[in-house]
Amino acid sequence: MELNDLYRDVILDHNRRPRNFGALDAADASVEGFNPLCGDRLTVRLKMAGDKIADIRFEGSGCAISTASASLMTEAVKGRTRAEALSLFDRVHRLLTDDAASSDNLGKLAALSGVREFPARVKCASLCWHTLVTALRAPDSQVLPAVTTE
Ligand code: FES
Repeated sequence: MELNDLYRDVILDHNRRPRNFGALDAADASVEGFNPLCGDRLTVRLKMAGDKIADIRFEGSGCAISTASASLMTEAVKGRTRAEALSLFDRVHRLLTDDAASSDNLGKLAALSGVREFPARVKCASLCWHTLVTALRAPDSQVLPAVTTE
């Protein structure tokens, strides 16, 4: 199987069966992200245990890329510290925008590298990540307004 086929299968799988999708009661942070290009919105909710992301869930309606990216993101950051999640954001952001970026040790997140061939879809893939960063930087127990992707 070609690498591109493998990446496509990961995206399709996470779009069809998004992991950690749905409501999260008593969240410590809840942020709605907004993609101004298409009008799609998604909400990321976090439960923290000290400095660790104890639980994370998302909901909203978006395209296959945004849904798959959010699903992959929740799997990747659950159980990680704030700093680890923020550094993962940096790596994914580079992966989406820089042809020379390495996908070593990124596991299934490497599938997002296929998106950089379609610049218009980079905002779709990064929507949930920008939303997560805003949620992580929020003080605990605060519900924040929507953020837009850059
Ligand atoms: Fe709206 Fe992708 S088309 S998030």
